[in-house]
Amino acid sequence: MTKTFYITTPIYYVNAEPHIGHAYTTIVADVLNRFHRLMGCETFFLTGTDEHGDKIVQAATGAGVAPREYVDRISGIFRDTWPRLNISHDHFIRTTDPGHIRTVQYILQKVYDAGEIYFSTYKGLYCVGCERFYTERELVDGKCPDHDKEPIEREEANYFFRMSRYQSWLMDHIEKNPEFIRPERYRNEVLAFLREPLEDLCISRPVERLSWGIPLPFDDRYVTYVWFDALINYVSALGYPDGEPFRRYWPSVQHLIAKDILKPHGIYWPTMLKAAGITPYRHLNVHGYWKINEGKMSKSKGTVVRPLELVETYGLDAFRYFLLREMVFGLDAGFSEEALVQRLNADLANDLGNLFSRTLAMTAKYADGRVPPFASELEVPEKELVQQLESSKRQFQEEVPKLGFHKALMAIWESLNAANKYIDSVGPWNLAKDKDQRPRLLTVIRTLLELNRVSAALIAPFMPQTAETMLQRLGISKKAMDLSFEEDTRWGALKEGAPVVKGDALFPRIDLKARIPKEPSATASSMAPAQPTQVAPLVQEPITFEQFQGVDLRAGIVKHAEAVPKSKKLLRLIVDIGEERQVVAGIAQTHKPEDIIGKQVIVVANLQPAKLMGIESHGMVLAVCDGDTLRLVTTEQPVAAGCRVS
Ligand code: MSP
Repeated sequence: MTKTFYITTPIYYVNAEPHIGHAYTTIVADVLNRFHRLMGCETFFLTGTDEHGDKIVQAATGAGVAPREYVDRISGIFRDTWPRLNISHDHFIRTTDPGHIRTVQYILQKVYDAGEIYFSTYKGLYCVGCERFYTERELVDGKCPDHDKEPIEREEANYFFRMSRYQSWLMDHIEKNPEFIRPERYRNEVLAFLREPLEDLCISRPVERLSWGIPLPFDDRYVTYVWFDALINYVSALGYPDGEPFRRYWPSVQHLIAKDILKPHGIYWPTMLKAAGITPYRHLNVHGYWKINEGKMSKSKGTVVRPLELVETYGLDAFRYFLLREMVFGLDAGFSEEALVQRLNADLANDLGNLFSRTLAMTAKYADGRVPPFASELEVPEKELVQQLESSKRQFQEEVPKLGFHKALMAIWESLNAANKYIDSVGPWNLAKDKDQRPRLLTVIRTLLELNRVSAALIAPFMPQTAETMLQRLGISKKAMDLSFEEDTRWGALKEGAPVVKGDALFPRIDLKARIPKEPSATASSMAPAQPTQVAPLVQEPITFEQFQGVDLRAGIVKHAEAVPKSKKLLRLIVDIGEERQVVAGIAQTHKPEDIIGKQVIVVANLQPAKLMGIESHGMVLAVCDGDTLRLVTTEQPVAAGCRVS
């Protein structure tokens, strides 16, 4: 019977657009999915978006749109991003899907009927950012460790899941299944949680406080709390309870997450599954965090790294390779464009790219551009190379399922490096000078072609595009997804006489010095931002959040612009901010009217009206002064007129 493999990513919140962290998890899932396909498994790969809860409502309100419209938009961005990273998911789930809602309600009812959900009043410390109550013990200096904010006291009647009942079962299960949560450091972390008394889990919110959620089937005054809704996606996507995919794939399920959501996945989810009578997952695979300048990625510091921008600059496979090669699964890693370029130049352009182009060039020159036969016996150097390749294959096979991606890649690179050295030591150009050595020359070329072919199949889960290009040039037109480990990494399987195509370099080298200073803000990375000529001192007097919220900032589109007669500085604008406003702006010295029509601007919408040169201004357009230049403040991507800036 064919083995199955089911891999999931977290379903991402739609309050932020995809960044390198989301991309990493999803690419790792993709590598695992492609690897298992290569090994002949029947696979299912799930990703999606988490769309209910306070945070989403807040984000929608901030954007000035209804939650439905907002979640559709951001979920769409995630959905559109994944194909551009060559993600091979089988299903994209949204927690607003009717099928998901049905399954959540089914499980809630089942667990409720079993007496494992009860109604009670709870008073506790609540972090709005996390949407959950915290125990004193969990706080760090009285603050939520994730948001660095003091939680608020909140009392509420709610429904609770009797999670405490499952504490000893879960401990026992983890003890007996050492690979249940991996790597070990996260298993230990969960066991440490479980050594303290486990509390019951609040699973609802009253509708008047949060209506954007799934109603409890047994009390429609309440909706489910974010985790009880979100975690169930992993089974609802398979059509639980009756779906055939559930029967087929659930027994092989592995979840992939980062350390931030260890507790819900390591504790809530297995106990929920147990209570619902569903077998626990096989593995919870937990990775570390990508950090920028040793800190968390942060919108306010401008250090959010956007995957598509990197892909555009460096190419998709260089990006995928870098992520998998650089991070040791389970540990944090630092991101910088410099490190990416170094890997690209050294590992991809030099080692892999050079080997491939040297091999193809020699095939063209010495073998009429066709796959030659093994025209002589393999000698010691060839035999060593074959042995090295077998060892790389073995390590690849062992390491990828254990999440040792960097080790698997290092193992493949050992073969590539050995092959580069083999070329240097055998010196095919010398063999070519001697007619008697022709059979050996052909054997050397064939050996190299075989090694490149096998390597292409091994790198396919990591760099599918490159693998396809390599294979195609070697005369094999197969999609990366259709490769088979058994067939495509078997030594000697190239078709004798098949034409081989030279083509361009797989990975052109990038000159780091020439690139980075030119585009300092291509992506937020460790690169220093451009220095403004002169910076005004920061205002020391703090304002409250409420004071800030008192400023109604809106995104607008300039509909009309004209110079104000007799004024050097002023332009009269008509700006659409959901309604049309006349605004007088002091930007005439830097902006021509015709250049700013259609531009997205940010407007202070509730500024007291004022008359400038006799013209009434109903708002102010924001601009930044950098030395002598004035730059209009705008949005990163076009947004609808009237969206609120927050
Ligand atoms: N919606 C929940 C998950 C529910 S799953 C049933 C959620 N969403 S999230 O959008 O915040 O995504 C968190 C996940 O994004 C992490 O677990 C990880 O997969 C990925 N990452 C977010 N930031 C990351 C880094 N800086 N580095 C690596 N991965 C990161 O939590």
